[in-house]
Amino acid sequence: MTDIKKIGILTSGGDCSGLNSVIRDVVFAANQKGWEVVGIFDATDGLFSRPMRYRDLKVADFDFPYAALGGTMLGTNNTGNPHIQKKADGSTEELTDEELNERFKEGVKELGISALVVVGGDGSMAIVSKYCKVAGISMIGIPKTIDNDAPGTDMAIGFSTAIGVVTNALDNLTTTATSHNRIMIAEVMGRGAGHLALEAGVAGFADVILIPEVKYTYEGVVNKLKEIQKAGKRFGLVVIAEGVKTPEGKHIFAANGKTFQGVSQYFVEHLQADGFNVRANVLGHIQRAGVPVPGDRLLAARFAVRAVELIEKGENNRVVAYQDGEVTDMDLNTVLKIANTPVDPEGSLVKTARALGVYIGE
Ligand code: F6P
Repeated sequence: MTDIKKIGILTSGGDCSGLNSVIRDVVFAANQKGWEVVGIFDATDGLFSRPMRYRDLKVADFDFPYAALGGTMLGTNNTGNPHIQKKADGSTEELTDEELNERFKEGVKELGISALVVVGGDGSMAIVSKYCKVAGISMIGIPKTIDNDAPGTDMAIGFSTAIGVVTNALDNLTTTATSHNRIMIAEVMGRGAGHLALEAGVAGFADVILIPEVKYTYEGVVNKLKEIQKAGKRFGLVVIAEGVKTPEGKHIFAANGKTFQGVSQYFVEHLQADGFNVRANVLGHIQRAGVPVPGDRLLAARFAVRAVELIEKGENNRVVAYQDGEVTDMDLNTVLKIANTPVDPEGSLVKTARALGVYIGE
């Protein structure tokens, strides 16, 4: 057993529900070992900025129900550029790779931590792991993403809650759609993977589900909508993952030029021109919010406990994972080789959706 007195934790990348549950559970599990925990603010920025930004995390801090709230009490960022850091007076400074390494090392020493738990994507884990190596501490990763495409794990923190949020939104869209005899389009997050659109789409009784992994045709969508109208159904529900390309093979970008947004508008324009009464709804960042559902809290509990156990064993560069109903852990390099996990176009849920008559592409 290693001589551990204190560990650190940070959240990195886009937020999601369940992050505060993970933070709470890491604090509680560490407390059982007699360790202290320090939370680093805004991913690694809290360690790079001067003065450093962090807070001690104690069991008593969770008397307030942070763990049941969405977001992250530690803040996060997904800009991927640690070189620009804020100074105490609000101005910014540019740091070289060497300076970042030095600051990380210095920060780790000052905080007295011997391991860092990174709740984020595999990209963040890979970056932080390099700094940890320089600083001589271990890195343990906990995967989170509402896209659920994290390599090596069947389930990432945030996904279960996001399915609930999107399904609820689809139910709400259905009531207005049926009142107006309308087609409703819901555009769901998912850059490269359609897990969220697929799972919430089936749960929300969609007629059409389009995901990046399955090719579709515009005619296929139109035919399905005509078919349901002919059958006397008063509304149509179309769920589209934001990462779906237009029938001409183009991605539609948000105003920030980086993330995808607007493919639903494309469909509204074309379906309207083809005589459908149709509206588009971009569900947006609301999908990353919400009270974490029990599924995410349970996953948080399992992941946090495994992370603390790994630290106790003196492990380094391990990523916790959930496979076939059990928690496990993998080497970071193995995880990085797997790459993200998209929906299997031949998978059982795609087949289930088709068997229910959902148009999901060809
Ligand atoms: O990776 C999660 C995700 O929610 C994507 O589905 C989405 O495209 C992206 O984050 C949005 O990120 P941002 O917070 O930069 O708008």
